[in-house]
Amino acid sequence: MFRGLVGRAAALLGVAAVASAATTIVVKGTSSHPIPPLLYGQMFEDINSGDGGLYAELLQNRAFQAVKPGKTLVLVDRDWNALQAWAPVNGGNISVVADSVPVSAALPNALQLNIPGGASGTIGFANQGYWGINVNSSWTYNASFYYRFPTASGFNGSATIALQGTDGQVHASTQIPISGSQTKWAQVTAQLTPSSTPSNINNTFTVTFDSAAGSTINFAMFSLFPPTFKDKPNGMRADLSELLLSMKPSFFRLPGGNNLEGQSAATRWIWNNTVGDLVDRPGRMGNWGYTNTDGLGLLEYLTWCEDMDMQAIMAVWAGYSLGDNSSVPEAQLQPYIQQAIDQINFAIGDPSKSSAAGLRASLGHPDPFLLTYVEVGNEDMNAPDSYHYRWHDFVTALSSAFPQLNWFAQNSFSYDNTPRNGVTYFQGEYAVTATNASAVFGSTDDGRLTWPIVQGSIGEAVFLTGFERNADITPNLVGFDAGAVYPSTSFYVQQLFSRNKGTDYLPSTLPTANGTLFWSVTSDKYAKAINIKVVNYAGGTEDINFQLSTAVGTSGQVTVLTGDPKASNTPANPTTVVPTSKGITVGQTFSYTAPAWSLSVINIPMS
Ligand SMILES: *[C@@H]1O[C@H](CO)[C@@H](O)[C@H](O)[C@H]1NC(C)=O
Ligand SMILES: *[C@@H]1O[C@H](CO)[C@@H](O)[C@H](O)[C@H]1NC(C)=O
Ligand SMILES: *[C@@H]1O[C@H](CO)[C@@H](O)[C@H](O)[C@H]1NC(C)=O
Ligand SMILES: *[C@@H]1O[C@H](CO)[C@@H](O)[C@H](O)[C@H]1NC(C)=O
Ligand SMILES: *[C@@H]1O[C@H](CO)[C@@H](O)[C@H](O)[C@H]1NC(C)=O
Ligand SMILES: *[C@@H]1O[C@H](CO)[C@@H](O)[C@H](O)[C@H]1NC(C)=O
Ligand SMILES: *[C@@H]1O[C@H](CO)[C@@H](O)[C@H](O)[C@H]1NC(C)=O
Ligand SMILES: *[C@@H]1O[C@H](CO)[C@@H](O)[C@H](O)[C@H]1NC(C)=O
Ligand SMILES: *[C@@H]1O[C@H](CO)[C@@H](O)[C@H](O)[C@H]1NC(C)=O
Repeated sequence: MFRGLVGRAAALLGVAAVASAATTIVVKGTSSHPIPPLLYGQMFEDINSGDGGLYAELLQNRAFQAVKPGKTLVLVDRDWNALQAWAPVNGGNISVVADSVPVSAALPNALQLNIPGGASGTIGFANQGYWGINVNSSWTYNASFYYRFPTASGFNGSATIALQGTDGQVHASTQIPISGSQTKWAQVTAQLTPSSTPSNINNTFTVTFDSAAGSTINFAMFSLFPPTFKDKPNGMRADLSELLLSMKPSFFRLPGGNNLEGQSAATRWIWNNTVGDLVDRPGRMGNWGYTNTDGLGLLEYLTWCEDMDMQAIMAVWAGYSLGDNSSVPEAQLQPYIQQAIDQINFAIGDPSKSSAAGLRASLGHPDPFLLTYVEVGNEDMNAPDSYHYRWHDFVTALSSAFPQLNWFAQNSFSYDNTPRNGVTYFQGEYAVTATNASAVFGSTDDGRLTWPIVQGSIGEAVFLTGFERNADITPNLVGFDAGAVYPSTSFYVQQLFSRNKGTDYLPSTLPTANGTLFWSVTSDKYAKAINIKVVNYAGGTEDINFQLSTAVGTSGQVTVLTGDPKASNTPANPTTVVPTSKGITVGQTFSYTAPAWSLSVINIPMS
């Protein structure tokens, strides 16, 4: 999901609907501070967002990375089932083996198919995708795999690759020539164009053989891609990218929060393990106990940011692992600082001066990417003692190598009490994850919401009004499965804030800190408009009288997100709560009634 991990954001206030007098909000005519262009963006967290999510690869466990041959149990000693997502077809004997001649140093494992002697009919194996495969007859799929015969055989025929429903219906199929004399790895490719679109995503990708009884064949590095965002090979899902684009995010934080850290220093995210040919990427066991393919690597992240017209906020590992809460001693930091320098050079360096930048150029992107912000570490405040020297040593070395960049520390505290001393804080993640305060503020994983609910999302909106008031800062929501995307209530909250962030903050009457009505007013010098966000975190309506100090027109627009506080947008009911817009009469003074549990964005033209 595009969400943070823990709710450290909006208080879920104990609320009762109390009839109250109208609130008067006086808005000043002059701005106190500009709204940074990068106020709203997205962060990447690899739970459901890279492999099986944003990254468009359809096959799960495509290269048997970070699994042990023979392991069949899930999550024993953090090992994933070696055959995760794979199943035999018609009695094909499949197993994951350590190949004596691996396809690459990075990918030691292969899938071995033994077709019993005397077997007849169509025999092979299937991949179930990431809990389904979206088969669409408007699309052409690019399929590929590597194969070799460990022992030369007389087989000379073909593999049939297909997309099939679990009912056995074949939606697409093609033949790939396969030779038993091929004892070295060979990559084969094919395209699949379905002749029909099944009614659901319960489909599999199959590789089967006829008349190959007695054959043993090894396979490695499978891939199956649908059309991608901007048709980039090894690219991103088009539907998710387009939905996120509709939020007009100004930045994207990569490569995630906990995803950066790893369980230990050895299993941290290492940028140069994520670039180059896919067979040269070892992948790694991610923080949540399943393999990351790293097919979505540093170059893909940066390219996607470029294609989405977002700035990258790139994080570098800063010597701390959340999994074992261990910090690298100061005397041993240098290699990690050098890796961070190399990583930044990969993004923005000069190919004639840096080999990492030269690598970027050799991979087809000689020009530097747009990068001005680098986050040093993630959740490193968990080890405040070591963060003092780690932050100091990293930022000293990195500032000297890249004086043009800005450095961010992630911060999870509230902003109104934050001194304005020139330090910029980065609110990397926020999300309401549960419906009660103890769960929100506690550190346990219990009680999390599966889908954002209106109450939680309106709570996030409360938080975002404080965000603009203290706009030296920042955040991240979309549910999806293999077939579709489901914008959540929280997605719409962020979309409304992001699309209406304005350019300048206009101070106004301060909300009552322990109240349930919150607001933030900005002006937009380009759109020549005033944007008022009003959040009513209560079960009753709230009357408001606005008094503006700026000359404005009379025809405004209000967009409202509201619903039953427990309502969610779910795959079964994806449009339960969506924003609605209508005209509203405004003026220098005007009244507005905020519905219960609502975010209203009022756009007022300046005259
Ligand atoms: C299945 O294949 C594995 C290794 O590829 C082999 O060790 C095993 O004997 C085979 N089992 C059968 C029933 O053929
Ligand atoms: C199939 O793809 C087309 C083109 O991208 C899209 O308009 C359509 O909604 C898709 N069909 C399904 C069932 O997802
Ligand atoms: C394999 O089969 C193809 C056609 O089916 C044929 O052209 C080719 O000569 C065969 N190769 C061998 C080594 O028999
Ligand atoms: C898809 O397959 C799963 C598991 O076999 C099953 O529980 C589910 O009902 C299927 N869904 C549809 C729409 O057929
Ligand atoms: C699929 O293959 C075609 C033809 O080689 C190529 O133009 C296209 O970019 C590829 N798409 C993806 C997503 O790899
Ligand atoms: C990655 O880069 C580091 C130095 O930054 C180097 O020590 C290491 O060998 C590189 N790894 C790969 C796989 O290239
Ligand atoms: C992590 O280690 C630091 C000491 O380096 C300690 O202060 C902190 O309490 C530890 N945090 C956890 C969650 O164990
Ligand atoms: C709140 O959530 C916590 C954590 O899931 C749970 O232990 C507690 O019982 C919940 N309290 C209420 C009032 O629902
Ligand atoms: C809110 O705070 C004010 C001032 O601190 C206090 O008088 C009032 O009782 C509080 N209201 C609630 C509902 O806690």
